[in-house]
Amino acid sequence: MNFTNEKPFIAGNWKMFKTVPEAVDMVKKLHEASLGLEKAQFVVIPAYTALSEVSRALQGSPVQIGAQNMHWEDRGAFTGEVAAPMLKDVGCSFVVIGHSERRQLFGETNETVNKKIRAALTHGLVPIMCIGESLEEKEGGNTIPKVQSQITEGLEGLDAEQVRRIIIAYEPLWAIGTGLTATPDQAQEVHRFIRSDLAEKHGNDVASCAIILYGGSVKPENTRSLLREKDINGALVGGASLKADSFAEIAREAIKAYEEK
Ligand code: 13P
Repeated sequence: MNFTNEKPFIAGNWKMFKTVPEAVDMVKKLHEASLGLEKAQFVVIPAYTALSEVSRALQGSPVQIGAQNMHWEDRGAFTGEVAAPMLKDVGCSFVVIGHSERRQLFGETNETVNKKIRAALTHGLVPIMCIGESLEEKEGGNTIPKVQSQITEGLEGLDAEQVRRIIIAYEPLWAIGTGLTATPDQAQEVHRFIRSDLAEKHGNDVASCAIILYGGSVKPENTRSLLREKDINGALVGGASLKADSFAEIAREAIKAYEEK
């Protein structure tokens, strides 16, 4: 798997939206929108039910596909769960791990995140590990300690070679689906901390190559100012990735931001 922070990395998390025909239609529209595919890296992250058909629709395209979650075991009596080999089987290259909605609503912990990351790496999937603080934690001045503990526990026991194959997404909970975005300065401060923490624990080489995404109410209007920041390498987009025109506009703005860096 080749990915780089020399180009913007834009991922669309479609959450629990889109039937199979709607998801496939979206992919067709994205292609028609001419995203500037050679200047950026794109990943679409549909619901499980649409993975297979979207993957087929993306054949021959540089747009890649990821899943929103997975179980850490390869197989077994885990009703309702999906395993890494199953995601590979339908063409996934990426998997979101520890999204805040999973942490808040489905009891995910740093420990389950760690198990899932290990399993994803074992099967050659790139984990997109989500971290971020709540509004209460932010107001209490606890953003950095929260993010640091999520990184430390989520990546526990992994060596530099493994950490190199992980993408981190900083998604402050108060910005997700709220229309409130972190300012570029606020986001950059946390991203810079994440990169320095990676440098301290896993070496400068891993830190300088790391892809650190921002997520939380990313829209065409705020993409450029966020991605111009030194340590923001891309975006994990929810609501605004559901429509082809706004997703394509985000992509164009991201490319401009990178040209200006
Ligand atoms: P919104 O872009 O809708 O705020 O969602 C962000 C998110 O959770 C992406 O994973």
